[in-house]
Amino acid sequence: MTEATNDRNSVTMIDNRSGKYFTFPILHGTVGPDVVDFRRFYAETGMFSYDPGYMSTGSCSSKITYIDGDKGILRYRGYDIVDLAENCTFLEVCYLLLTGELPNVKEKHDFEDTMRYHSMLHEQFHRFLDGFRRDAHPMAILCGMAGALAAFYQDSIDIHDPTQRMIAQHRLLAKIPTMVAWAYKYSIGQPFQYPRNRLNYAERFLDMMFRTPCDSYEPNPIFAKALDRILVLHADHEQNASTSTVRLTGSSGANPFACIAAGIASLWGPAHGGANEAVLNMLQEIGDPSRVGEYVKKAKDKNDPFRLMGFGHRVYKNYDPRARLMAETCREVLDATGNRDEPLLKIAMELERIALEDDYFIEKKLYPNVDFYSGIVFRAIGLPVAMFTPMFVLARAVGWIAQWKEMIEDPDQKIGRPRQLYLGSPGRPFVPLDKRG
Ligand code: CMC
Repeated sequence: MTEATNDRNSVTMIDNRSGKYFTFPILHGTVGPDVVDFRRFYAETGMFSYDPGYMSTGSCSSKITYIDGDKGILRYRGYDIVDLAENCTFLEVCYLLLTGELPNVKEKHDFEDTMRYHSMLHEQFHRFLDGFRRDAHPMAILCGMAGALAAFYQDSIDIHDPTQRMIAQHRLLAKIPTMVAWAYKYSIGQPFQYPRNRLNYAERFLDMMFRTPCDSYEPNPIFAKALDRILVLHADHEQNASTSTVRLTGSSGANPFACIAAGIASLWGPAHGGANEAVLNMLQEIGDPSRVGEYVKKAKDKNDPFRLMGFGHRVYKNYDPRARLMAETCREVLDATGNRDEPLLKIAMELERIALEDDYFIEKKLYPNVDFYSGIVFRAIGLPVAMFTPMFVLARAVGWIAQWKEMIEDPDQKIGRPRQLYLGSPGRPFVPLDKRG
């Protein structure tokens, strides 16, 4: 089949085997590339489209996040990420992602109150957590905790009831900081700390992470501000692997807590949310700026599986706009800790410098992504490496919830069911056990 003609609103293809013509509509987004509407492709041609990794496939329509990877643009609900990161709190951005509009003063306060109201976890979570091995990775614990919310909060899992749906969204968003902090406390054997609701969202989280019953603790305002910005930068990113997982899971009618558990599992992989952890491990392995060249060489070697972690992106073929803001936050935090000479930062800066000048990285458009600097910030705040991906969960939960909400409210929503190109045996006679060689 080859493309024959196209006008502004349709594309026509010829099947070269039969000589038949097929026409498919072109849909126009508000910005960004047009898409060919292939929904009737199978019905009309008897063929499926083949696109592993969804390199050219739009899986849904959405009004939430827009990315132009070539220009390095990221917008939430039409607002540029730089404006949001510089002027809004994370909870304002959450409100924006969920409702489509930035809150006015009253809406902002009401939303913050709602987040305080739902911040505690069911008391029985203590016992639920006791079931995990002490050395369990916090991501493993978080997958379990998110799914378990459906057992603890059964009065908000009816997806056909708009009130229950709204309460589930608020519960998820308000409880995620408590869940992440408790997963951490469990892994280090310290007592769980309850949310102190007089603090703001980021401070509350830091407080639950680092307070102990033995000492007083006040969250460092610079760390809280940096964390709030990190949350804004990671809040949503269009139809990435974990968000698509949440949508696909939700498309079967699964409850929102189960959907978020699926999203957490998908985010865990090193090519997605696990990259910030991988970046820090890589910087530690490099150990000294003088060894950066050696690692750049390894990354370019086709016979070596090593890749520069924190470089490259499926969508951004330009500097990731979030990476710039993250580099700025990184410097602010290191200044605040009096740690501007942090050796890992020096290695990171040298790596960035060499890679940005190297033909291999220039030709393949491999720029630093958001995870390149976030690990250094997390480390300066005092978070262990195993908590880096859970931090991504803390931020991305709102994006998952907003995308799930949009999908459930879409009257055209259908269960997701991709097809395949089958390459296995076409069919063979059954061989009884005693006749198998
Ligand atoms: N170091 C060295 N070479 C690379 C890298 C890298 N980090 N990333 C891509 N390449 C090369 C790759 O070998 C390939 O070369 P060739 O065309 O000669 O085969 C070419 O660039 C294209 O790579 P790809 O794997 O086909 O691109 P992709 O869009 O499938 O992968 C990626 C995107 C993010 C998985 C990949 O760039 C990568 O593995 N980066 C390192 C991991 C990382 O930092 N991930 C975080 C992504 S941002 C957070 C998020 O949104 O979740």
